[in-house]
This record gives sequence, structure tokens and C-alpha cells, in this order.
Amino acid sequence: MGRHKVTVVGAGNVGATTAQRIAEAGLADVILIDIVEGLPQGKALDLAEAAPVVGHDARITGTNDYADTAGSDIVVVTSGLARQPGMSRDDLLARNAGIVRSVVEQAVAQSPGAILIIVTNPLDAMCHVALEASGFPRERVLGMAGVLDSARFRSFIAEELGVSVEDTHAFVLGGHGDTMVPLPRYSTVAGVPITELMSAERVAALCERTANGGAEVVALLKTGSAYYAPAASTFEMVDAILRDRKRVLPCAVLLKGEFRTSDLFVGVPAVLGARGLERVLEIDLRPEEQAAFDHSAAAVRELVGKLAEL
Ligand code: NAI
Ligand code: 2OP
Repeated sequence: MGRHKVTVVGAGNVGATTAQRIAEAGLADVILIDIVEGLPQGKALDLAEAAPVVGHDARITGTNDYADTAGSDIVVVTSGLARQPGMSRDDLLARNAGIVRSVVEQAVAQSPGAILIIVTNPLDAMCHVALEASGFPRERVLGMAGVLDSARFRSFIAEELGVSVEDTHAFVLGGHGDTMVPLPRYSTVAGVPITELMSAERVAALCERTANGGAEVVALLKTGSAYYAPAASTFEMVDAILRDRKRVLPCAVLLKGEFRTSDLFVGVPAVLGARGLERVLEIDLRPEEQAAFDHSAAAVRELVGKLAEL
């Protein structure tokens, strides 16, 4: 068996950092593609020149030509704009929908058997665009958000309790936005729910910080949004698929009745393996949790509805 091949579309902050992680783990050869000439080539060359020091043999190619992406096992889509001052959420939706549609059409023409991992925001809506543009089954169109949101929650839990991040687990479900649903009952330290380890006020404070996690980083950086944790989270999904690990990771997937929701991409626990989405892991939500999930799904559905008006 040859090496795996992963295409990363968008050689910006998230894309280039994801490419770095994949290559440095020796997981796959990486094709970095962007619309800007020279940018993917320059970043790929720089990454390749780090390889002897880091000690990996993954090939990293920068290109503006989709022919170079042919036969990819996975295509990660990070191309798009971040929200600029003066740009409404709907403007961003329209601009990024156009970008995601065009890059997905070009990528899947070269790699008809690939699994798509969408990162571009607004995440859940962009997954719908990718599903339609690719014509792929839901098993091969996944959105990255829940791993990131859960990682943020885990880091806050570990800091609060003075324990290793490794011993924390967290589940954040729902859409990737203000309405996301951190589930404290399923968020644990060495198996113990955090609700037994800290006050209700502290749990609520950490949940709120998680929901605002993206904005907190933007407010500090001022010129862009987070990319180290997003790239690490995307890498975790790529690793789960290429190594057929059956990892249970919160991902945006097209629901078909699970969690009482249909025909909508929203974050739920998913089993990821060689076939992409292998199974949605349904858990019984309490009425107040289901209500929060439904509220979040309604916000996603509203945005998806706007796609049809474009
Ligand atoms: P960035 O601005 O650093 O990179 C975006 C790249 O996309 C640029 O290099 C740009 O030239 C490229 N691009 C634009 N149009 C293109 C096209 N038609 N074809 C190929 N490349 C094209 O942005 P960054 O920080 O890497 O973020 C990328 C996207 O990911 C944004 O939409 C951001 O909101 C989103 N994001 C989503 C997260 C999530 O949890 N789902 C987390 C972090 C970022
Ligand atoms: C984040 O959560 C911007 O969606 C991105 O950091």
C-alpha cells in the first residue's frame, strides 16, 4: 500500500498548520492548494525544508492546480474569508458559500472517492454546501467544530481543577456558534462528571467561556482567528480516518433522524474510521439538553435557509 494523500485547500493559518501537523506526524503526503499564487508553494517548501530536522519523510507539495490533488484520500477545506469589520454574517455566508462550492467541485472531480472535512465558517452551513457540491453520501462529508469546542472546554476544566488535560473528556454538541451545547454531565475528569467536582456557577462559567471561545481568541489577536487548536482538532479527525481508529469525536454530520433532527448538519458524537462517518453515537438527552440542542439546530437551520436565497 502506498502512502496516504491528503489535500488541504487554503494555505492560510488553519490550512498551513494542519498540513504541518499531518506531515510532521508522517501520516500522509500533503498537497497544499490555494488561489493565491506562490503562497502554497512557499509554505510547502518551507515545511519540506523543516523535514530533515523534524525527521519525517512526508512529501509536501504546494500548488494552484487541482490536477496535483488527484487521488486524495481526504480533502480538508479551510479556504474562505474570516469576518471583516463591516461585513455582516450574511455577507460572509454568501462569499464563503461561493468559495466552498467552487473548491469542492474542483477537488471532487480529481478525487471522487475522498472524504471531505470542512472547516470554513459558518461551519454547519458550509457542510451543506459541500454535500450538495460533491454529491457525496453523508458518510464522506464531515465538519470540524465539535473537537475544537470540546478541546477548549477540556482545557478550561483542566485549568480550573489543576489536573492534566489528558484526564479530561468533554462533549460539546450542536452548531458551531453562540448556541453550541456543552454537556457538563458528559464532561468528566477521569470518568467523574465535572458537576461533582465544581460548583454549578463554575460549571456555567466554563460553559459560557467555551461558547465564546472563538471570540475570545479573536479579541486578543485582532487580525485573525484561532488556528493552532483548530488545526490540532482537524488533524485528530484526519488521523482517526486514515488509521481507521473508530474514534468517537464530536463532528458536524448530516442527521437523518438522530437526536430528533433530520436533513441538517449539526455537531453530534460520531464514530470516525476508514469509511468516514461510520455511526452516529446517540445518547439520551435530558429534556433541557434536548431543548438546548433543538435551539442550536434551529439557528443552523435558519442560516442554511439563507443559502437557498443566495
Ligand atoms: P486565512 O485567511 O488565514 O486563510 C484562508 C485561505 O483561503 C487564504 O490563504 C486564502 O487565499 C484562501 N482562499 C480564499 N479563497 C480561495 C479559493 N477560492 N480557493 C483556494 N483558496 C482560497 O484564514 P484561516 O484562519 O485559515 O481560517 C480559514 C477558515 O476557517 C475561515 O472561514 C475561518 O472562519 C474558519 N475556521 C473554522 C473553525 C472551525 O471550528 N470550524 C476554526 C477556525 C477557523
Ligand atoms: C473559532 O471557533 C473562528 O470558528 C473559529 O475559533
